[in-house]
Amino acid sequence: MIPDDIFLKIVRRAIKVPSGHNTQPWLFAKESNGLCIIPDFSRSLPVADPEHRELFISLGCAAETAMIAGGFYGYRTVLKINGLSTDISIKISLQKDDTIEQPELFSYINVRQTTRNLYADKPILAEDIAALKNAGGGYNIRFFIGQNEIQKLSPFIAEANAIQMSNPKFKSELIHWMRFNEKEAMHKGDGLYTACSGLPSFGRVPGSFVLKNFVTAKSENKRLLKQLEKTAAVAIFTTPGNELENWIQTGMVFQRFALTATKLGLNHSYINSPCQITQVRDRMMNDLGLDGFPQLLIRLGYSQKMHSSFRRRIHDVILTLNY
Ligand SMILES: Cc1cc2nc3c(=O)[nH]c(=O)nc-3n(C[C@H](O)[C@H](O)[C@H](O)COP(=O)(O)O)c2cc1C
Repeated sequence: MIPDDIFLKIVRRAIKVPSGHNTQPWLFAKESNGLCIIPDFSRSLPVADPEHRELFISLGCAAETAMIAGGFYGYRTVLKINGLSTDISIKISLQKDDTIEQPELFSYINVRQTTRNLYADKPILAEDIAALKNAGGGYNIRFFIGQNEIQKLSPFIAEANAIQMSNPKFKSELIHWMRFNEKEAMHKGDGLYTACSGLPSFGRVPGSFVLKNFVTAKSENKRLLKQLEKTAAVAIFTTPGNELENWIQTGMVFQRFALTATKLGLNHSYINSPCQITQVRDRMMNDLGLDGFPQLLIRLGYSQKMHSSFRRRIHDVILTLNY
């Protein structure tokens, strides 16, 4: 039986992980010998993520973090995926073990962030790229290093982004998850707070109006391609299959990768639209000779930190104390 305070401490770290639009699509339950992570489909993104692919990547990030935190508090962890599709749960058993080494990535859980800044024109050290590859532990991560390589990605990003931004339903969903000022962001504890993208505060009505009418496929493409120009490297995470287990595993590996980048003083953010539009994804796989299904496109580089995103209160994500 794990004590309540250990369960709460682990959950407090697990909810710090990234999620698409910061939806935080998870619930946690305490079990007799560990804890369980359950998808909260009421927080899914039907337009941006109709298959729940990114939702399960987020759950993988949460599971990996729960295991790192478990290790930090002196527990050996074992992960098991139970059930199928909508019934799925990720179970993490925890067994006290005083010989366990404290995982060094633990201290970066609260510091990691998605940093959407323009990055410095400074290359990443070869040894840091090697450390990031190592964090992937044999998982397939392809690096595009330097502008010559990185620019190969720009047509796919521009095309996928244009498809999304021309879709009124995509925009409505985005507006729903936007938090236009600090009061709204703190009150809800979720969503995309404008300051995290370096944008000013607005009221909800003017903010929605601006996003609907002035943020276009063209303006977003300009912003994303500028970001790409100010990027030292891009990492593409690929998987041999495109199933739920692949998505959860991507999240687990990515979380280690993101924490390792944070430890190395490297910033990262996402340019994922080519993974979200099937026809662009398939062409990108072919044209770039990728070794599997691209799940995440992550840009890397050096910059100042930005505003941190908010999280919901811990008791809003705890399903039961089921023991
Ligand atoms: C699977 C996945 C996909 C994401 N896609 C994007 C994206 O396309 N663009 C973006 O700016 N952020 C993206 N994010 C980052 C989230 O918006 C971010 O994690 C969330 O706002 C919380 O902020 P934090 O990562 O700084 O804690 C993605 C995150 C995940 C886990």
